[in-house]
Amino acid sequence: MHLPYAYAYILLFALSSLVNGQFLPSAAPIVTRSPYLNAWVDLTGSKPNSWPKFWSTNRTLGWGGFIRVNGNDTYEWTGAAMEDPALKFTARSRQAAVLNNLIVTPTRTIFILRAGPIQFNVTYLSPIEPDDIVLQSFPFSYVFLDAVSADNQAHSVQVYSDLSGEWLSFADAVKIQWDTTLGPIIAHSAQLSTPKSLQEVTNMASDGTLYHATNAGNGVTWETGGHYAIRGWFLSQGSVNNTKNPDFRNINDNYPIFGYAHDLGSVTSTPVSVVWAVGLARNPVIRQTSGSDTLDLLPYWTTKYSSPLDGIQAFLADAPKAKERASALDAKIQKDAMKISSNYNDLVSLAARQTFASVETAVGPSDSIYMFMKDIGTSQRVNPVETLYAAFPAFLYINSTWGRYLLEPLLQYETSTQYTASYASPDIGSFFPIAAGQPNPSSLRSIDDSSAMLIMAWAQARFSGDQTLLNRYYSTFQKWADSIISSNPLNTAGAQTADGLDGQNDMSNLAIKGIIGIRAMAEISHTVGKGDDASKYQNQASSWVSSWLASASSGDHLLSTNSTSSSWSLMYNLYPDKLLGMKLVSQEIYDKQDRFYTTRTLSGDKYGLAYDSNAINVVKSHWTMLTAATTTDIGARDYFVKMVHDKATDSNNFATFPSTYSSVDGKLITGLASPAQGAAFGLLTLNLESKLAGLSGNTGGSPDTGSKSNVGAIAGGIVGGLAGLVLIVLGFFFFLRKRKARDYHEGESKPATFFARFGRDQPHPDDPLVDYHVEPMPLPSGYQSQQGRVSYSNSNSSSGQLLQLAPLRLHNADQSAAFQAPPLPRKTDRIATSSLEDVARYNSNRDVLPLPTSPSVGGTSSDASQLRHEVESLRREMEEMRSRTMYEPPPEYT
Ligand SMILES: *[C@@H]1O[C@H](CO)[C@@H](O)[C@H](O)[C@H]1NC(C)=O
Ligand SMILES: *[C@@H]1O[C@H](CO)[C@@H](O)[C@H](O)[C@H]1NC(C)=O
Ligand SMILES: *[C@@H]1O[C@H](CO)[C@@H](O)[C@H](O)[C@H]1NC(C)=O
Ligand SMILES: *[C@@H]1O[C@H](CO)[C@@H](O)[C@H](O)[C@H]1NC(C)=O
Ligand SMILES: *[C@@H]1O[C@H](CO)[C@@H](O)[C@H](O)[C@H]1NC(C)=O
Ligand SMILES: *[C@@H]1O[C@H](CO)[C@@H](O)[C@H](O)[C@H]1NC(C)=O
Repeated sequence: MHLPYAYAYILLFALSSLVNGQFLPSAAPIVTRSPYLNAWVDLTGSKPNSWPKFWSTNRTLGWGGFIRVNGNDTYEWTGAAMEDPALKFTARSRQAAVLNNLIVTPTRTIFILRAGPIQFNVTYLSPIEPDDIVLQSFPFSYVFLDAVSADNQAHSVQVYSDLSGEWLSFADAVKIQWDTTLGPIIAHSAQLSTPKSLQEVTNMASDGTLYHATNAGNGVTWETGGHYAIRGWFLSQGSVNNTKNPDFRNINDNYPIFGYAHDLGSVTSTPVSVVWAVGLARNPVIRQTSGSDTLDLLPYWTTKYSSPLDGIQAFLADAPKAKERASALDAKIQKDAMKISSNYNDLVSLAARQTFASVETAVGPSDSIYMFMKDIGTSQRVNPVETLYAAFPAFLYINSTWGRYLLEPLLQYETSTQYTASYASPDIGSFFPIAAGQPNPSSLRSIDDSSAMLIMAWAQARFSGDQTLLNRYYSTFQKWADSIISSNPLNTAGAQTADGLDGQNDMSNLAIKGIIGIRAMAEISHTVGKGDDASKYQNQASSWVSSWLASASSGDHLLSTNSTSSSWSLMYNLYPDKLLGMKLVSQEIYDKQDRFYTTRTLSGDKYGLAYDSNAINVVKSHWTMLTAATTTDIGARDYFVKMVHDKATDSNNFATFPSTYSSVDGKLITGLASPAQGAAFGLLTLNLESKLAGLSGNTGGSPDTGSKSNVGAIAGGIVGGLAGLVLIVLGFFFFLRKRKARDYHEGESKPATFFARFGRDQPHPDDPLVDYHVEPMPLPSGYQSQQGRVSYSNSNSSSGQLLQLAPLRLHNADQSAAFQAPPLPRKTDRIATSSLEDVARYNSNRDVLPLPTSPSVGGTSSDASQLRHEVESLRREMEEMRSRTMYEPPPEYT
C-alpha cells in the first residue's frame, strides 16, 4: 500500500515559522570538531531537512533523521531522504518537521521543531573544553533529541538517525567496510576498505573511521544496510532489525547506512531524551618534521583512552555533564558578547566552533601538547601564520595557554637545523596533515610573519602567565626582531603582506605591524630579564612610530600608502597595540581614524568596506572584526559588526561563514569555514587580564591602562559618588544626539550621519534609512573600473583572472587560486518563497507554537533600548576605568 507519488511532496512546501529579525545564518555548523569532521546545514531555505554538507559545501554528508508520531505520521528533521520517491513506506503523512526557531550558541546549534502534536529540539553540540585538553581533542560531537507532547495528550513516538558512508570520502565509488560493537553503548563504525594514512583527497581524510553511537537500552534498535530498506522499514514499523549487513561495497552502491531507532513509548508532558555521538577518528593525526626527525603524532586523547571506542563510551557517559559545561561556557561568552551587541553575540557564537574545529591536538614527545591548524577554506597549509594571527583572539579568550600549543610546532621547526632563514616562516607545511616544514620561505612576507609571531608569542605569555616559549626561543625571537629592523618596516619596498598587497615602500598597515612586533620583542626581553635588549627594542619602536605617523597620517585618516593620498585601509594591525596595552599610537589618532571609518561607511557597498582601498571590493571579515576592536566609537564598531553580520545571514548565498567575499554582492572569494573568523573574539580580548607586568608596569588587560595620569583616580571618584546620575545624564545626552542625527536625515537634504544609519542593530522595516544604502552599479563581466584602477570582481565570472592593481597588486598564490574558484553550486531544492518575510507571512495564519525567546534573537530598535544601550556602554566604560585604578598606584603628593 504505497502512497501515490505526488502525496510525498507536501514536505517540499513545509515552510517554517521563523520570524524576521532573528539570527538565521546562511549555514549553521552542526558537527564541527576537526578539519575532517566538519558538517554544516544550509539554512537559506529556512528548513531543517536538507542534506548536511561538508564545510566545502560541495559534498553531501548523508544523514537521515526522522520522527514518527502515533504510528502513521512521519516527519523529517534532517537530511532529504523523504523527498526521494523511491523511498517506499506506509504512513498517512510524511513531511518536514516545522522549524519554529533556531538558536546558535558558541558550542551548539539548536533546532526548535514541531512534528504534529510533538514539540522537539535537536541540539547539535560540538564541545569547546577550555580546561581539559583530552576532551578538547576528541573528534566527537553530541546530538541530543528532546521531545515533549505539546497538547497534553500522550502520543506514541519513535525517532531515528543514520549516517552514510559519504562522511568518509569525497568520491562515491570507493569501497567501505563497517561494523557494529554492542555493549553498554552501541557503536557503528565505518572506514575506507583501503584507508591511506595521513592523506586527504579534496579536503576529506582518507584515514578516518566514522562513528555513530548511542546508549544501549530498552527500545533501542540498530541496523546497517541499504538506505531504502532501513529508512523505509523504520518509517513503516518504528524500529529496525538489529542486524549487520555483511556486503561491503562502494559508498553509493545501494548506499550503506548505519542507523538507530529509539522507541520513546508514550510521550507526555514529561520530556524524553535521546543522545547520539557522531565522530570521525584518525590516528595518527599529523606527520611532523622538526630537525632530522619525522614523527607521526597521535591525537591527544590517546594519552587517556586506548581506542576510539573507549573514548566514545566515556564521551557518551559524560553527555549530561558535557551539556552543562557547554551551557556554562556559552553563558559566559554570551554575557560578555551581549555587552557589545546582539549582532556581535551572533557572530561570536557562529565563529567559535569553526575556529576550534580547524585544529588537531596531538601529543608529542614526553607528552607535550601541540596544536596543528589547517587553513580551512583558503589553502591546505599547516599553522598558517596570518590565519593564526586572525584566529588568535579566540584562543586567547578561551584558553591563552592554547596559544603556546599552536606556536610551538612552528618554533620547534624554525629552530631546527632544517630551517635557515633569519625570519619567521609563513607556515610549517603546504599540505595538511603533513607538517613537513618550509625550509626556504620567500623573504617577501618576512616582516608580516615575523611580527605576527612576536606579537602572538608575547600575547599568549602575557595572558596565560606562561613564559615557557619566551625563555625557550628567546634567541630566535631576537633574530626575527633584528631581521624586521634590518628590513625596515618604514620602507616596505619589496615586502608583501600576507594578503598579497605589495610593491610599495610605505604600506602603513604592514609598517605598524612591524613596529608593534619590535615593541612586543621589547616586552619579551623585559619578561625574560634582558633589560638592555628591552630598552633597545622599545626605543626603536618609539622612534619609528613618530616617523610612521609622519608618513602614514594624512589630513583626516591613516593612508594605506602615502604615495596615494586618497588611499586608506582598515587598520587592523593596530589591534595588538590595543590588546597589549602598548599605547604606541595615541588615542587622538584612533579617534581620527574612527571618524574616517564613519564617513567611509556612507559609501560602503551592500556588504560593507573592502579591507584596503587597493583591494577593491574585497571584504575580509576577520580584518573587519579586528578593526572593530580598535574603535572607541560605538557607531563605527557597530557598523563593522553589522557588516559581517549581513554576510553571515546572507540568504542569497549558501556559504559556510566565509572570511573573504565581494563587498558588492557578497559572493564568495575564499575562506569558507575559515578559522580566521576567530578574529570575532577581538573585542572580548580587550578585557582580558594580564598575568605579566610588562614594560609599562601595569597588569590591567584594558587597552588604555598604560597612562599614569590621574584620570583613573578621578573617574574612580566619580564612579564612587555620582555614578548613577552621571550615567543617566550622559546616556540621555548621547541618546538625544543620536536621535537628532537621525532626524536630520529624515528631514532630507542634510547628509545622513553615521549614527543615524548605524546606531541600531536591525533597521526597522519602514525606516527610511534602509533605503540609504548606495546600491553598487552592476559590474560588467567581473571587472570594474574605479578611481582609475581596474579591479576584478567575483560577481558573475567563471574564469577568474587577476589584473594588476596600480600601485599595489594582489599576488598571493592562495588568493589567485581562490579567485579562480568555480561559482558555488546552486541549490536546486529550494522552496520558491524562501525569503524570511514570505515565510513569516505564510505562517502568520497557521497554527504554530509561540516562539521561545532566545538570547540570540536580535534586540529591538526602539529609542528606549538605545537609551539603555548608551547607559550600559557608559557604565561599562566607567567600570573599566574603575578597575584600572585598582592596578595603578594612588596619586602621590610630594
Ligand atoms: C569542492 O570544494 C573544494 C573547496 O572549495 C574545492 O577545493 C574542490 O575543488 C571542490 N571540488 C569539486 C569537485 O567541485
Ligand atoms: C493511526 O495508527 C493507529 C495505530 O497506530 C490506528 O489505530 C489509527 O487508526 C491510525 N489512524 C489513521 C487515521 O490511520
Ligand atoms: C588552559 O589549558 C591548560 C592546559 O591544557 C590547563 O592546564 C588550564 O587549566 C586551562 N585553563 C583554564 C582557565 O581553563
Ligand atoms: C527546547 O528548547 C527550548 C529553548 O531552549 C526550551 O524552552 C524547551 O523547553 C526545549 N524543549 C524540549 C522538549 O526540551
Ligand atoms: C527486517 O526483518 C523483517 C523480518 O525478517 C524483514 O522482512 C525486513 O525486510 C527486514 N528489514 C530490514 C530493513 O532489514
Ligand atoms: C611618504 O613618506 C616618506 C617617509 O616619511 C616620505 O619620505 C615621503 O616623502 C612620503 N611621500 C609622500 C608622497 O608624501
